Amino acid sequence: MRLTVLGSSAGGGFPQWNCNCRNCAGVRGSTLRARPRTQSSIFVQGDGEDGILFNASPDILQQIKTNAHLQPARRLRDTAIAAVVLVDAQVDHTTGLYMLRERSQALPLWCTAPVAQDLRQGNPIFGVLAHFCGVDAHEIPLDGRSFEIPAVPGVRLLAVPLSSKAPPYSPHREAPEPGDNIAVLIEHAGRRVFYAPGLGEITPGLFELMSSADAVLVDGTFWTDDEMPRLGIADKTARSIGHLPQSGAGGMIEWLDRLPRATRRLLIHINNTNPILDEDSAERAELARHGIEVTEDGQILRWP
Ligand code: MLT
Ligand code: MN
Ligand code: ZN
Repeated sequence: MRLTVLGSSAGGGFPQWNCNCRNCAGVRGSTLRARPRTQSSIFVQGDGEDGILFNASPDILQQIKTNAHLQPARRLRDTAIAAVVLVDAQVDHTTGLYMLRERSQALPLWCTAPVAQDLRQGNPIFGVLAHFCGVDAHEIPLDGRSFEIPAVPGVRLLAVPLSSKAPPYSPHREAPEPGDNIAVLIEHAGRRVFYAPGLGEITPGLFELMSSADAVLVDGTFWTDDEMPRLGIADKTARSIGHLPQSGAGGMIEWLDRLPRATRRLLIHINNTNPILDEDSAERAELARHGIEVTEDGQILRWP
């Protein structure tokens, strides 16, 4: 299996276009040791060139340009993106679908029933794409059955519903449904990756699944619960929008500490306000002491 981190940042990217927080101003002005990052997405290949795009970020065109293996040029019109899997219906994970509209055939796409509903109603991307390539939508099962995507044989996927919220434009925003947000266990040739860019709460069952993986790529959005209110950016806390902060009691670091020693621990979907983006920060040093990595755009994880 080859996994490419296409975008390691949360919605807004890093630096965010309108933000002058310490991190955004620092990376823009090169006064901070930090790397710019595009919005949340990974690409997974099994044995072949064709792979699965997990989430289609608004930065997808830039991500394809900087990762040549997504454009193998085997024919006049080509792409290595054989299918798309969505973990939620948020803007940062879905609006890149518009950029894939020039496909010659309908886009094979897997998502849960509530996500499909949001993309037909609240944010009707499927309806708009019907005027271009169209979407060949498949429902992701949430009953513990794993599934395979025919164009990418050998890669098995298992989705797990997470307790979270649907996006603001969802018709059921105030009435969460299982499947608004999922984690995915990706398995190929006996190797397993647990992927959950938005993870608000870790239950015993979820932790067991994480413990079975060779690597976990998990929610790195915020360092503290009150990160945005404290900066005066927004009044939303991390937990209120479905993101478990890294620091503090019951935080992500505590959970990751309990994983088997050999498990690779990586944070993904990092918000531009998070102090871990500053490579010289005390928070980044604390992660290093716990053996936790911060993903970067273009990073490749490969087994064997
Ligand atoms: C989130 O996961 O909370 C999103 O990044 C929010 C957004 O895209 O605006
Ligand atoms: Mn997001
Ligand atoms: Zn910022």
